Amino acid sequence: MKYSLVSSFEKRAKASVLIVPFWEGMKDVAHLGSWKDSFQRVLESGDFKAKSGDTLFLYPEGFKEERVLLLGLGTEDKASSETLRRAYAQAVRAIGHVKAKSCHVIFPASAHLSRAEVLTGCWEGILLSNYAFNQLKGTSQKEAPPLLENVGFIGLDEKDQSILDRLQTIAEGIYFVRDLVNGNADEVNPSMLAQSARDLEKISSKIKTTIHDKKWLEKEKMGLILAVNRASKEEPYLIEISYKGNPSSKEHIVLVGKGVTYDTGGLALKTVEGMIAMKCDMAGAAAVLGTIRTAALLNLEVNISVLVPTVENCIDSLSYKHGDVYRSYSGKTVEINNTDAEGRLILADALAYAVKNLSPSYVIDLATLTGNVVLALGEQMAGFCANDETLAKKLRDAGVKSSDFLWQLPLCNDYKEAFKSDIADMVNSGGRDAGAIKGALFLQEFIGSAKWAHIDIAGAAFWTKPKYYHTTKATGYGVRLLIEFLTKISHS
Ligand code: BES
Ligand code: MN
Ligand code: ZN
Repeated sequence: MKYSLVSSFEKRAKASVLIVPFWEGMKDVAHLGSWKDSFQRVLESGDFKAKSGDTLFLYPEGFKEERVLLLGLGTEDKASSETLRRAYAQAVRAIGHVKAKSCHVIFPASAHLSRAEVLTGCWEGILLSNYAFNQLKGTSQKEAPPLLENVGFIGLDEKDQSILDRLQTIAEGIYFVRDLVNGNADEVNPSMLAQSARDLEKISSKIKTTIHDKKWLEKEKMGLILAVNRASKEEPYLIEISYKGNPSSKEHIVLVGKGVTYDTGGLALKTVEGMIAMKCDMAGAAAVLGTIRTAALLNLEVNISVLVPTVENCIDSLSYKHGDVYRSYSGKTVEINNTDAEGRLILADALAYAVKNLSPSYVIDLATLTGNVVLALGEQMAGFCANDETLAKKLRDAGVKSSDFLWQLPLCNDYKEAFKSDIADMVNSGGRDAGAIKGALFLQEFIGSAKWAHIDIAGAAFWTKPKYYHTTKATGYGVRLLIEFLTKISHS
């Protein structure tokens, strides 16, 4: 999608739609200049209440646009960039219904939101909802909603351009994540993730990718990654990417993403209902790939490494087995009491590798780790645990700022006893109660004294149905959160 800046209302060219925003209860439309009378009448009629996301097409004479779309923003005192995102997403949906490809956007005046908040809400709402995943639609492709191609912003000037460009780069990172998560598991397999990691080298000379293959995993004794992948015909990998955006700094953020490209549960086979969404089990991997890509395109002055252990959790005579014990990269041994708790196993080897080899200032892992986090928090936010309060605060702040919402859960040590094993150092599943916290407690055994946070995105990454500005089940969760977090780090 292309955007242009239109210096004033009078100077705009032709377009299909003009989006005119209204706060709920707004009476004064003086800012609409000579057109104010036409809108005043509509508002006074009471037909259009301007509740958040309300839309109404008008076809007035004398406009440069074929139609005018009244857009309700809800009450101004409750507004945030998130309410604007959701409202502008409704505008894009309405525009899709009339198959229009160009529009003019007027930004709402707001007494208590900053200009940056208004721009972010409106533009991100448009960008994120202007996404479709049509690759897998056969003949019905023709019915797919057309996307907006041109947006003209009225009343903005050149100094706003850097904000708009930054948001567009972030949105493209989110599309990249959504494409990977929406894609068929048969296509988005470990070698495809490895290839997309290699491709990142093309976008920046500051990115270096190393693909550690099965031979390397065997040599390094990454017994947990190898165990989970045993039943798969695909080769497992540990993908390692570095982006050196600030070579003179020792600061080094390591992002780890769970890359289970399909999770059948293994011998603890899932039901059809439990398995149906399991192509999303590499959403953590996609999020960290999308983040390092976006960080490089934004030229963030920060050093990042990405680690993605990637496997398929399949079922076969070679499956790793309940009751058997496997040795991790850290040396700790794990008795498998549930082959469906596979994410923590592959992450454990990756986390131990980060601690031993990468001198991280912070380690953050993103993983679709537990169904339990969805029971606790639903799909609207991720759950996270951290062993360092400074890091936890930075993530909470980034969550609020970016609207990639997250909520902290306690790393309650008392629950660690659930992992006792009589023949190994631990079992891999501590049962279902407090399951999201226990997932984090298992991982903590492999992080040593590094400052670390674990973000469970099982609900947030892949919704049951599209909603708000997410037009597909895959939301692209994590990119906005981590880019906000990294941007703050780069400025500190
Ligand atoms: N990939 C699943 C978690 C998941 C569930 C992701 C729903 C997205 C939506 C994970 O590997 C898993 O199976 N977790 C188990 C853990 C249990 C065996 C301790 C779970 O949640 O039941
Ligand atoms: Mn599983
Ligand atoms: Zn899984």
